[in-house]
Amino acid sequence: MLKKATAWAPVNVALVKYWGKRDEKLRLPANSSLSICLQYLGTKTTVEFKPKLQKDSVILDGKVLGKREYSRVVEHLNRVRLLAGSKLKAKVVSENNFSKSVGLSSSASGFAALSLAASEAVGLKLSSKDLSRLARLGSGSACRSIGDGWVEWRAGDSDKNSFGETLFSQSHWDVRVLVVLLSQKEKKVSTTDGHKLAPTSLFYKKRLEFVEKTLISIKGVVGERNFSRFGELVEDEALNMHAIMLTSKPNLIYWLPETVRVMRAVREWRNEGLKSYFTVNTGQNVFVFCMPKDEGEIVEKLKGLEGVIEVRRDQVGRGARLVKKHLF
Ligand code: DP6
Repeated sequence: MLKKATAWAPVNVALVKYWGKRDEKLRLPANSSLSICLQYLGTKTTVEFKPKLQKDSVILDGKVLGKREYSRVVEHLNRVRLLAGSKLKAKVVSENNFSKSVGLSSSASGFAALSLAASEAVGLKLSSKDLSRLARLGSGSACRSIGDGWVEWRAGDSDKNSFGETLFSQSHWDVRVLVVLLSQKEKKVSTTDGHKLAPTSLFYKKRLEFVEKTLISIKGVVGERNFSRFGELVEDEALNMHAIMLTSKPNLIYWLPETVRVMRAVREWRNEGLKSYFTVNTGQNVFVFCMPKDEGEIVEKLKGLEGVIEVRRDQVGRGARLVKKHLF
């Protein structure tokens, strides 16, 4: 049955990164990855399939999408139509509660919310596994925004066995995530293009040899709730991915001077006994992890750094879900 449906999906922060694909079209990753869903930052999307529409209409954050982004959404709607055996066009309205294209994985929360809202609107009842597979086809990391809490994406080797699954629920461990916004500039090289460059790095083969071991180690320390070990491993892994970016041809330098300033400050505070650790994706922003007792002090210190525009406090949260309040 057709209906209007609205879904909310969180931004997820990768602890073990997805960088490079074994299959471009199916978005099968070269390696498995692990992330946490955030509780507050995310995307809300309303979808309605209507007999009278001539073409899909898509509004994101109050604006009509550019050609490339629009086609990506239409392609995703086509996947949903194919599954449901429908030809109807859809109206889609979506809102991020953060600025997109600043390395906050708007595509992850965006395609997760779109997958859930569109499949529900067209009358499909997908399992969480199938929803994650669907979301993956829109944007790889989106498959990790479906399940709750700490989500592992086993790389798999086919469309069927590559999806995200909860490893630990959001209540397993209360790690705080400070989202440090440094620049509202759109990033120049999209993530999708960046992935293609990964194999041109001299170090990429090496990374793929040990990244599955990094995943096992990080899963272990999350299980034990060992914050120092967790932070060390997560920082190492982020820098490792950036080493691939920095040595790709052409090279990718996603950092700003401010990014490095935050990374160095976090390390300095740690040497003084205030424990926090960072990770960075493809944008100019930094995610800082800390324990609840240190959160207030670290937020104040971060706000005092030159070039920091805003610090958003977040924590481990649930995955995608349907919500009642529609956007239109
Ligand atoms: C650096 O999921 O945005 O954030 O599949 O091409 O849409 P596409 O890529 P995307 O890549 C995310 C890369 C990353 C690391 C991560 O989130 O694991």
